Amino acid sequence: MIGLYIHIPFCKKKCNYCSFYSFVAPAKVQTKYINKLIKDLQKHKKTKFSTLYIGGGTPSLLSEKQLEKLFLAIDKIKKIKTFKESTFESNPESLTINKIKLLKRFGFNRITLGAQSFDNKTLKTIGRLHTSSKISQVFNNLKKHGLTNINLDLMAGCFEDFETFKHSLSQIIKLSPSHISVYGLSVEEGCYFFNKKQFPEESFTLKCLLEAKKQLQKAGYIHYEISNYCKKGKESLHNINYWKNGEYIGLGDGATSYINGTRFQDRFSEKLTGKEKQGENLMLGLRMLTTGTKPIKTFEKEIRELKKLKLIEQKVGKIKLTPKAIFVSNQVFEYFVKPFKD
Ligand SMILES: C[S@@+](CC[C@H](N)C(=O)[O-])C[C@H]1O[C@@H](n2cnc3c(N)ncnc32)[C@H](O)[C@@H]1O
Ligand code: SF4
Repeated sequence: MIGLYIHIPFCKKKCNYCSFYSFVAPAKVQTKYINKLIKDLQKHKKTKFSTLYIGGGTPSLLSEKQLEKLFLAIDKIKKIKTFKESTFESNPESLTINKIKLLKRFGFNRITLGAQSFDNKTLKTIGRLHTSSKISQVFNNLKKHGLTNINLDLMAGCFEDFETFKHSLSQIIKLSPSHISVYGLSVEEGCYFFNKKQFPEESFTLKCLLEAKKQLQKAGYIHYEISNYCKKGKESLHNINYWKNGEYIGLGDGATSYINGTRFQDRFSEKLTGKEKQGENLMLGLRMLTTGTKPIKTFEKEIRELKKLKLIEQKVGKIKLTPKAIFVSNQVFEYFVKPFKD
């Protein structure tokens, strides 16, 4: 299976926490970018893609005209409605009814919407441009127009109190989307919070992530990946392909591709081999909480040590993260990356 990822790096305004490759650009620059994407797409007429993910940045920021041009170009290499899964990433303030209709017309079958919080004060603190009621409005518009397979992103640890986070959780559960991603706020170089030296408190973020797990599982969601919950059968196929180390083509600035064991960007490529490759396979496989992954002999010693620390467990030939390891998974993954522990 091969995934197709298309990166749209534009945003209306940078959020205070965001260090992703995204920026504000005039319409002219956006149009030039789309034209380049369309040219790059044409090189893939023969590639057998299964899933499509248009992410960003903010793809929903593009105008209807720009979106239509891009969708027509994708249709030329493979009809959007024939992808096993086709996801479009969006922000509440820019996903208008007309854009929703366009997405439906081209046959997208999955929408992801960056809610982040249902508290207006928190949304302001983190620099979002939408309000809580806008999230519900767009969510209902999507459903009304037949786009019912929706993911909502939520962030934990956003300089708010526990009750406020719990309020956001209850609101998201009320909306009952088919998929929910919950990310602990991380403040990295390049964002506003980093420059202001405003960092989240790790223990508070962990408390929120554990509460999210408890409430979402109680509401019937399956915790199938470290940051991802879904209703039965609603896992993200495109992302599962990443975690299973499947192949993908990434188009657009900064997007990565992974074909034949080689990971590459426009100007850079690396082929992972031997122990490094096996370590990466283990790390990706361990992200899958329900299925786990097969242990690899090369890391026998590390796996034994992690079992002793009760950070991984083995059941019917597969190893999995233990509940206490899920939100400190980086401690586990350190065992599988260079420089390897002796
Ligand atoms: C690549 S972003 C783009 C999505 C879209 N532009 C939006 O803002 O809704 C995907 C998601 O990553 C999460 N995210 C981005 N920066 C983060 C950070 N510094 N810490 C935690 N989560 C973050 C947010 O939940 C966001 O919705
Ligand atoms: S979180 Fe989304 S909208 Fe905000 S700056 Fe990053 S990519 Fe843009």
